[in-house]
Amino acid sequence: MPAAASNSNPPVTSMAVIGAGTMGSGIALVAAQSGMKAFQVDISSDQLAKARAYHRKTLDRAVAKQKFTAAEAEATLARIEYVGEMKAAAAAGWVVEAATEQVEVKKKLFVMMRDTFGKDAILATNTSSISITDLASAVGQDAHRVIGMHLFNPVPVMKLVEVIKGLATTEETTERTIALALAMGKTPVPANDRAGFVSNRVLMPLINEAFYAWMEGVAEPADIDEIMKLGCNFPMGPLRLADFIGLDVCHDIMMVLHRELGNPKFFPCPLLRQLVQAGRLGDKSGRGVFEYPAKG
Ligand code: CAA
Repeated sequence: MPAAASNSNPPVTSMAVIGAGTMGSGIALVAAQSGMKAFQVDISSDQLAKARAYHRKTLDRAVAKQKFTAAEAEATLARIEYVGEMKAAAAAGWVVEAATEQVEVKKKLFVMMRDTFGKDAILATNTSSISITDLASAVGQDAHRVIGMHLFNPVPVMKLVEVIKGLATTEETTERTIALALAMGKTPVPANDRAGFVSNRVLMPLINEAFYAWMEGVAEPADIDEIMKLGCNFPMGPLRLADFIGLDVCHDIMMVLHRELGNPKFFPCPLLRQLVQAGRLGDKSGRGVFEYPAKG
């Protein structure tokens, strides 16, 4: 059931988002649209430029559709600061890590986050499958302010925030996270700290099974998707969705589920593995299950 806010902490006025990929750039945009100062942090200036272009394009589209005025769009953009170093964002009262889905990378970032931001800052992660308790172990006594804040792609559109408490996460941290998700116009729903939480534990076997159906010749990819769209009312078929998420990301999440839950059903389908090995990663590489024209 959606969680309700019941805390009296002051509203969050600034957020640092670590990582300017698809999820990080979406989170920074929604934070800025909610009135917060957003620090978009990434060591790659290329990635920061892509994030800025995405923000510009999304806001321009909203102005064209008369959802915002041009002045509101400019003010939103002006609230986002693009920085190459975490310390340039140290003033933020909240930090969300949205880096690559690798435990060791995230743990190193959590240590830096603890050492960079104030003692009251919540250290959140947008991980889609990794244990919050494990990530929190990297920051020792500060584990009480670590929490999972799992948003969905495209962040400006999708309503859910899956809120995941680690073993040491306090009630105060959870309440503050629920209040922040609501302030960002999202619906927070709690889930426990098991690999993949609820969303990917349920979604990934579905996607995997669609690959098996394709591999075994049950139907062609476009027909598998059409059947699921028209028959089950999915906005995208599972194979299109896999390309949208990234086949490498799906693969990595399945490996986490397989390792942590120990059930062979989570092991990625050989055909999915092969596409990843071939560099067919989905939308981002121009080809996955389907082909995508280059964006001009
Ligand atoms: N950023 C911002 N806004 C976007 C957007 C983006 N990347 N993509 C689409 N939109 C907006 C459009 O501007 C449009 O807005 P308006 O209603 O204001 O006009 C609206 O979304 C609908 O877009 P379109 O008309 O272009 O296309 P559509 O109706 O086909 O919807 C979609 C596109 C929202 C992506 C829809 O296909 C959808 O909901 N797909 C499923 C997405 C999904 O399941 N996401 C979860 C993935 S799992 C995950 O993220 C977590 C994980 O751990 C793996």
